[in-house]
Amino acid sequence: MSTELPESESSPPTEESAPTRRTFVATTTAVGGVVIAGGVFGGSILSKPEAAAASAAPSSRVTLTVNGRKHTVTVDNRTSLLDLLREHLDLTGSKKGCNAGACGACTVLVDGRRVNSCLTLAVRLDGAEVTTIEGLGDGDRLHPLQQAFIDEDAFQCGYCTPGQIMSGVGCIEEGHAGSKDEIREWMSGNICRCGCYPKIVRAVEQTARRK
Ligand code: FES
Ligand code: FES
Repeated sequence: MSTELPESESSPPTEESAPTRRTFVATTTAVGGVVIAGGVFGGSILSKPEAAAASAAPSSRVTLTVNGRKHTVTVDNRTSLLDLLREHLDLTGSKKGCNAGACGACTVLVDGRRVNSCLTLAVRLDGAEVTTIEGLGDGDRLHPLQQAFIDEDAFQCGYCTPGQIMSGVGCIEEGHAGSKDEIREWMSGNICRCGCYPKIVRAVEQTARRK
């Protein structure tokens, strides 16, 4: 018995006929999730301008205040707050570690609440107030928690430090810095690969006490 498949099943799709992931996503997104074969395979349902519109990434204008300064930017709808800060506003203090919500290196404050900016869509922040590590101090005067990190020597490579400090500020404001255990628990989303945890906790605890 022959085990050969008929030609249509055994031949891989050619470059020309195979939709790329990009064209598939663009087309299905543009028509509300309904797959239109003509759009994907270059048939007759979408006109040229419609096809062009489908392949262009949808974008939006968003106005938000960052560190007291108002910005209006047009961004791809998929842009994260972290990428908006780093790539559109040149605020590179917030770090990209995992880019998946697992390390806390990108922590900033949005309307006073700490968030992982890598998981926050920029287009959802119209009208929001964002504070990053660059806006925490008052001119040349450091925020008390920044000073405490220096005093306690609470970093080594420093990559996690902006996120740790922003998270620590949030933790203190929320009233979750009453003890070392509480600080450890409420800062557990901020990872330090250099293992500076005891000193970080001490810096947060001392700043909370002085408030
Ligand atoms: S970069 Fe955002 S949580 Fe890791
Ligand atoms: S100081 Fe290096 S990762 Fe925290």
